[in-house]
Amino acid sequence: MSATIAPTEEETKQLRRVSADLPPTPPESEHSDTERQDSNETLKTVGVDIALPPPTSPPIAVLEPDKKTPDGWLPRDPRLIRLTGVHPFNVEAPLSDLYNEGFLTSPELFYVRNHGAVPQVKDEEIPDWEFTVEGMVEHPLRLTFRELLEQYDQKTYPITLVCAGNRRKEQNVVRKTKGFSWGAAGVSTALFTGVVLGDLLKKAKPKRGARYVCMEGADKLPNGYYGTSVKLNWALDPNRGMMLAHRMNGEMLRPDHGKPLRAVIPGQIGGRSVKWLKRLIITAEPSDNWYHIYDNRVLPTMVSPEESANDPKWWMDERYAIYDLSTNSAIAYPAHEEQLCVVDAPSNYRVKGYAYGGGGRRVTRVEVSLDKGKTWRLAKIDYAEDRYREAGPRQLCGGELDMELRENSFCWCFWNLDIAVSELSEVGDIFVRAMDESMNLQPRDMYWSVLGMMNNPWYRITIAKEG
Ligand code: MTE
Repeated sequence: MSATIAPTEEETKQLRRVSADLPPTPPESEHSDTERQDSNETLKTVGVDIALPPPTSPPIAVLEPDKKTPDGWLPRDPRLIRLTGVHPFNVEAPLSDLYNEGFLTSPELFYVRNHGAVPQVKDEEIPDWEFTVEGMVEHPLRLTFRELLEQYDQKTYPITLVCAGNRRKEQNVVRKTKGFSWGAAGVSTALFTGVVLGDLLKKAKPKRGARYVCMEGADKLPNGYYGTSVKLNWALDPNRGMMLAHRMNGEMLRPDHGKPLRAVIPGQIGGRSVKWLKRLIITAEPSDNWYHIYDNRVLPTMVSPEESANDPKWWMDERYAIYDLSTNSAIAYPAHEEQLCVVDAPSNYRVKGYAYGGGGRRVTRVEVSLDKGKTWRLAKIDYAEDRYREAGPRQLCGGELDMELRENSFCWCFWNLDIAVSELSEVGDIFVRAMDESMNLQPRDMYWSVLGMMNNPWYRITIAKEG
């Protein structure tokens, strides 16, 4: 395992938490004697491996480009790469920075996908933030944020979120899609704390015939509020781990990530995890929200940008909506423009990166090829998520961490493979591919589609020789 994966003891010191006007956190469990949040808000860890990442940046500030936009009140990290000009804010970290963060991504470098302006919610307004559970339910609910914290069990889980557009840039290079160019850093991991979605739904009691949970956020966009849906039976399944979260890595959600409340739908494309959540509507049909229909779909590959814009029949077909993530992987090192002087180099170079599966399926192998896919070598895989499982039930970040309640695997893993420098200096490129426990293997060829989503062919980097 590479040293960059697990933070060291000194690196685990500060648990940063916004002390908004929050109701008290639930009492510590009896298991929590090795780890608890003390009055100084530091986190004593259960061994270094499940610690929170250290703050990675200097204090963030409102950036110059944001000042003239509706987000001009919002401090952000200048290291993030803007993918859609200045506004709305759609960003990823440089891939090597993201990788260096380790298993948990700090909020400063967590990728952001915003369709519009960020709703501004002041700390003093949070306890009264209202949301509803309505539609086909016996007991419609209107709850405040405060009630959600007081009346429901709080859970904490590590979860990796991935934008369906992750790696879209490669599609755009082949043929322009209708989407903007994500590199391979549209993916991040955090400890999310909140309420299990199924607990709320059981209280509201879905009626017979109800099949979908529609979600709507507070961000008003040109085509209405952002919204989408997932299946009700998924939401009721504890192993799918769906939750309404209010904390990320122990602190209040940052505005870009849905402050004060968001859905977190593990194992599925990030587009289902609605931020700034205001409404859950239980229905017999999938969401009719514009963003559910015209976003997050993989249309058949022959549909062209011109045709798709004109023909609603492609969009109205729920078969093309995407949910579970596809198996994917990327190489973080060698990094872009990294240079290696062969003369002074140690004998081996460690090639490394990340991989993830969809729908809670675990990555079971990662393979690297130095000869364009003729032969493959097995890389070592590290599943940091397992250390949370092994740690047993405990209080973490104001919620109960109990991985036994959720058997599936919803996090990325890291992989690495040592290659002799003498060999590396002779190859033109390095490929990586991953396979999950259901034998879903990343394909050799790209499936181009008009929105450029779920791109997951073998990931390739090229190596140039100089001198
Ligand atoms: N929720 C709302 N209300 N508005 C949005 O624009 N974007 C979605 C999802 N939830 C979005 C939203 C998309 S496409 C993704 S990939 C994730 O949020 C990104 O979450 P993040 O910005 O916290 O990483």
